[in-house]
Amino acid sequence: MTIEQSALPFTRRSLLAAGAALALPLPAAAARSPSSLAALGAAKGIRFGSTIGGKTMADPRYRQLNAAECALIVPENEMKWAALRPDARHFDFRAADRIVAWSTANDIGVRGHTLLWHSERWMPQWVADHDYGSSPAIEAERLLVDHVATVAGRYADRVDSFDVVNEAIDSETGKLRETALSRHLGAIETLELAFRAARQAAPEAQLVYNDYMGWRSDEGLHRDAVLRLLEQLRKRRAPVDALGVQSHLGSKFSDTPTGLGSLDETAWRRFLDEVTGMGFDLLVTEMDVHENPLPGDIAVRDAQVAAHARAYLDLMLSYPQTKTVICWGLSDRYSWLGDFRQRPDGLPKRPSPFDANYKRKPFRDAIAAAFNAAAPR
Ligand code: G3I
Repeated sequence: MTIEQSALPFTRRSLLAAGAALALPLPAAAARSPSSLAALGAAKGIRFGSTIGGKTMADPRYRQLNAAECALIVPENEMKWAALRPDARHFDFRAADRIVAWSTANDIGVRGHTLLWHSERWMPQWVADHDYGSSPAIEAERLLVDHVATVAGRYADRVDSFDVVNEAIDSETGKLRETALSRHLGAIETLELAFRAARQAAPEAQLVYNDYMGWRSDEGLHRDAVLRLLEQLRKRRAPVDALGVQSHLGSKFSDTPTGLGSLDETAWRRFLDEVTGMGFDLLVTEMDVHENPLPGDIAVRDAQVAAHARAYLDLMLSYPQTKTVICWGLSDRYSWLGDFRQRPDGLPKRPSPFDANYKRKPFRDAIAAAFNAAAPR
């Protein structure tokens, strides 16, 4: 698909064409019961959702689970540069279009993730190898603005919230990362440009800075750096509406002896107070619980995961600015954590609200209980 063709907006017609091959299930609004997470959240003004894509999109049982529980879907990988951009001239929207078409047919909203993953590691190699010519800043700006305008513009009438920039900070140093684009444009300038281009292409959408700083006591450097970044963007009047708090809970390393990590709730509240004090909304964008150091016994492990998730959600939902809660996958069968640092006992991981056979777990009930306990917003 050429850039010219891809600039066309994502119309209902193209959407139905893309969805036709999928044997679409029942409209999910009908399938969602009043006790679904979507309905329990909606009763309090909270949108609940999860990710889909790749293998999970090909699994009808997984699609059905999402249709039954979710008001919102995020393509797990399909809206990233790595998926959309085979090279500097072309876009391939097929996989993203199929997810958007399926979501539309099932009456589920869509979040866009992500217009700029500001990390060399997660951008396609061609971005680093690209010939930026004799006016490299102009070419870098053209490339970035063209990408953001094309993608945000295409989905503007279906996606009402975009992770415009993802993970711009190196959490080990607290500094902004460098990429091929930012080496020509400047780091903060690159981020500002992405937000401005997104606002122009999707003027109605919520624009989000998304990152993985959290409430563990070893995450202070990252939290401070995010605050500094939000302040800088605000000073430059970049159109940022909200902070996406990824919420990959649990320990960083499988060998940590301290269970789910030592938490600094006071520092976390101070952080959230500062973010909301600057006028930003909050979203929980990628929740799961990495339970590597917890005991192997399934009942014990699941109960501890659920208690951890409940305490975290109660805190996050005590902020009326938190109106979106998204899990990074619903089932243990497909969690990205399955391939990320094995448990010391070698047992399969259980980081999601449903098990590998789509059976609900205490984590799922903890989310429901947190929604029931939350104040309306
Ligand atoms: O699709 C290819 C497949 O064709 C190939 O055979 C296979 C071989 O490795 O790779 C497949 O692509 C993988 C893709 O997931 C789909 O499974 C990539 O290698 C792999 O890097 C990619 O991982 C994703 C990761 O982001 C990097 O994009 C994870 O699924 C996804 O869960 C993860 O999500 C991130 C968020 O975007 C940002 N926050 C953290 C979160 C978890 O890491």
